[in-house]
Amino acid sequence: MAGTHESSSLLDRVVLITGGARRVGAEIARTLHAAGAKVLIHYRSSAGAAALLAEEFNRIRVRSAAIHAADLLSAEAPDQLVAAALAQFGRLDILINNASTFYPTPVGRITAAQWDDLMGSNLKAPLFLAQAAAHSLARQQGLIINIIDIHGLRPLKGYPLYSAAKAGLAMLTRSLARELGPDIRVNGIAPGPVLWAENGMDEDLKREIIGKTALKRGGDPADIGRTALFLARDAPYITGQIIAVDGGRSI
Ligand SMILES: NC(=O)c1ccc[n+]([C@@H]2O[C@H](COP(=O)([O-])OP(=O)(O)OC[C@H]3O[C@@H](n4cnc5c(N)ncnc54)[C@H](OP(=O)(O)O)[C@@H]3O)[C@@H](O)[C@H]2O)c1
Repeated sequence: MAGTHESSSLLDRVVLITGGARRVGAEIARTLHAAGAKVLIHYRSSAGAAALLAEEFNRIRVRSAAIHAADLLSAEAPDQLVAAALAQFGRLDILINNASTFYPTPVGRITAAQWDDLMGSNLKAPLFLAQAAAHSLARQQGLIINIIDIHGLRPLKGYPLYSAAKAGLAMLTRSLARELGPDIRVNGIAPGPVLWAENGMDEDLKREIIGKTALKRGGDPADIGRTALFLARDAPYITGQIIAVDGGRSI
C-alpha cells in the first residue's frame, strides 16, 4: 500500500470555520486551535463573541486567530472569506461548514424566504464555499468538514425544510468527495442533540429526542470538536464519510 501516513499535528494548518464565534462552532475552533491550528473565525452577528474568542486564541499563540464577518446568504461571501484566510495566514488547509439556521417550518405555512434562509445557510453556502476554497485546499492536500445533522438522514418532525437542507448537505459531502479527490478529503459530522437551540424547542420534543438515544443523554459540543480533530489529524484515508455523533440516536 502506498504511504502509511503518520498522524500529523495541526501545527500552523489554517482552518476557516463558519459560524465559529459561539456554541458548537466555537468548541470545534478551540479543539483545533489547541492542536496547533490557526483559525479564521467567521461570524455574522456575533461580533463580540468572535472578538473574544480570537483574543483568547491569540493570547495562547500570537497571530493564531482572526475574525471575519459575512452574511453567508450573500453571493460575495464565499470568495471574500477565502481571500480573508489567505490574506491573514497565506494558506488554507481546512474548511469547516458549521453555520446554520434551524427553526420549524410547518407544512402549509412555509414561505419562500424560509426556503432561501434554510437552504442558503445549510446547503448553498457550504457548496459555494467549497468551490471558492477548492484551489487553495488542493494545494495543501486539504479537508472539508460539513457539519450536518442526523436529521439529514431521518427527518425531524416539524422541520421539513431544515431536514431537506441537511439531507442535501449529506449528499453534497459524498459528491464533493468524488469531485475534489484526490487532493481534498470531504467528510461530514452528523451531530445528535449536543446543545439545544436558543430559539426554543418544545420540552416534549426534547424528552422524546433524548429518549431515543441509546445512551439516554445529550452530548456535548466537545464531542463534535473531538470528531473534527480526528478527521483533521488522524484520518488521512477517510473521505466521503459522515460520522454520526449522536449517542446512538440514529441506530
Ligand atoms: N446544537 C445541536 O445540538 C446540533 C444538533 C445537530 C446538528 N447541529 C449542527 O451543528 C452546527 C452547529 O450547531 P449550533 O447549534 O452551534 O448552531 P447555531 O447556534 O444554530 O448556528 C451557528 C451559527 O451560524 C451562523 N449563521 C446562521 N445563519 C448565517 C448566515 N446566513 N450567515 C452567516 N452565519 C450564519 C450564526 O452566526 P452569528 O451568531 O455570528 O450570527 C450562528 O451563531 C450546525 O450546522 C447545526 O445544524 C447542531
